[in-house]
Amino acid sequence: MTTTTEEEEESEQVVTPWDVSAGADGKIDYAKLVREFGCSEIDKNLIERIEMCTQTKAHPFLRRGLFFAHRELDEIVTAYEKGEKFYLYTGRGPSSESLHLGHLVPFQFTKWLQDAFKVPLVIQLTDDEKFLWKDLQLEDCRRLARENAKDIAACGFNPETTFIFADASYMCSSFYVNMVKIAKCVTFNQAKGIFGFTGDSNIGQIGFPPVQAAPSFPDCFPHMFGMNKKSLKCLIPCAIDQDPYFRMTRDVSHRIGGYKPALVESRFFPALKGESGKMSASDPTSAIYVTDTAKEIKNKINKHAFSGGGATIEEQRENGANLEVDVPWKWLNFFLEDDEKLKEIGEKYGSGEMLTGEIKQILVDVLTPMVEDHQKRRALVTDEVLDVYFNPTKTPKVFLDLFREYEEKEFGKWEKKKGGGDSENDDLCAALEEKMKLEGATENEEGCAIGAPKSEDWLRIRKERMQRDAPTEGSKSALKKAAKIKAAAEKKAAEKAAKAAARGEAATCNKN
Ligand code: TYM
Repeated sequence: MTTTTEEEEESEQVVTPWDVSAGADGKIDYAKLVREFGCSEIDKNLIERIEMCTQTKAHPFLRRGLFFAHRELDEIVTAYEKGEKFYLYTGRGPSSESLHLGHLVPFQFTKWLQDAFKVPLVIQLTDDEKFLWKDLQLEDCRRLARENAKDIAACGFNPETTFIFADASYMCSSFYVNMVKIAKCVTFNQAKGIFGFTGDSNIGQIGFPPVQAAPSFPDCFPHMFGMNKKSLKCLIPCAIDQDPYFRMTRDVSHRIGGYKPALVESRFFPALKGESGKMSASDPTSAIYVTDTAKEIKNKINKHAFSGGGATIEEQRENGANLEVDVPWKWLNFFLEDDEKLKEIGEKYGSGEMLTGEIKQILVDVLTPMVEDHQKRRALVTDEVLDVYFNPTKTPKVFLDLFREYEEKEFGKWEKKKGGGDSENDDLCAALEEKMKLEGATENEEGCAIGAPKSEDWLRIRKERMQRDAPTEGSKSALKKAAKIKAAAEKKAAEKAAKAAARGEAATCNKN
């Protein structure tokens, strides 16, 4: 009896951020994961709503159920339908020189999300995580982070709206403040329950989860999203192995004053030798890497791809292939874009009309140009290009449209106070810059996204500062400030009058 239980336990599937292994039948039971983790399956209706509100055909990963689970993706879509934007957050743990094809899955999907929804993106490289878990020097992890970032950038993210950061280099006050607040909400017992920590775990590992949780809150990135924890909601695309981090994050979100991050989660791209195996950098035949040559791709697929086809040609013709376990078929589901062609291959191979060698050749023909194109794009990612992605002082103007409603309200209020009447200014960005100059940018605003909603803290500091620095009537600074405001108001009034005069003239001309 005891033996049976032990055997059963041994063959239980394991899915954690650090280990993924299939159950006794060699498969991952995704329905079970959804039940155990408490997320929801993505249904047809949600996909249709995404297509409607983005006016974009769903990505094959979404159409084919490869991104299959979510947490509150429906709420992000509902808010988006009403005009509210959000930001995307994803990441990579840099533990090897190059990415394997499975790693491309979340990045290709994130790129599609960024283009379809037209939203900004932050990408975390957890060099600290890999240092804490792997037998690697921190300096190596930092170097790998930059190397991996080149492959990530090669996926085609918009450099204007994408911020890539590595933990060991970016860690800043706003980030740390979020981490500490999150850490205080989670007990060691809870962390053991979620992540399986034991007495042997080093304390860096135990303290790490808040590092991956923090970027779910926009105020970790003041230069992009301002300093208000609720300036934007966050959507995280990843494979389902990362779910524990964000289950924890969602549990503490309200307690630290933020929104719960939403998630969109994928199945695993299986290892070359079958779903029960692991893609590992230490076994090059277990995966195809984005650095592999055409010859390596061909050899790996022909020699090592696990086949669900018959053992002999006769058997294959007689029974057809078992598509449930066949790796070439599963990989084509990820990377062959043409739905019709895919369906035809499934029917022919499943019925025995197509042989294993043929489907493997189709896979070689799909993957070789895909990997070669990736390599060409990566060669264009120079250090200068990479620096643009890593730049934490990215011009905040780019993000003005994220907060337009808030800005218009704020600007209207300011103009009224200034006595300039209703805003007719088309160039809101220039107007906000002018407003900042006139008000005098405070310490807290420096490097902070222009126009983003202000945090409660910021509003309190500004009030205190204004009370403290309130100029006495007749003082030099008061006179200077009043003169500036007057000049700006006069300029505005003159422009308005000129516009009105021009309109008047045009009307007269029309009449005539
Ligand atoms: P890492 O480097 O293990 O994996 C990077 C991303 O790839 C996904 N992934 C896969 N997707 C499909 N099939 C596979 N076989 C496969 N293997 C890995 C992972 O789910 C992940 O999305 N701790 C993280 C880095 C991280 C992160 C994040 C990931 C930091 N912040 C936010 C997602 C979202 C890690 O080590 O990922």
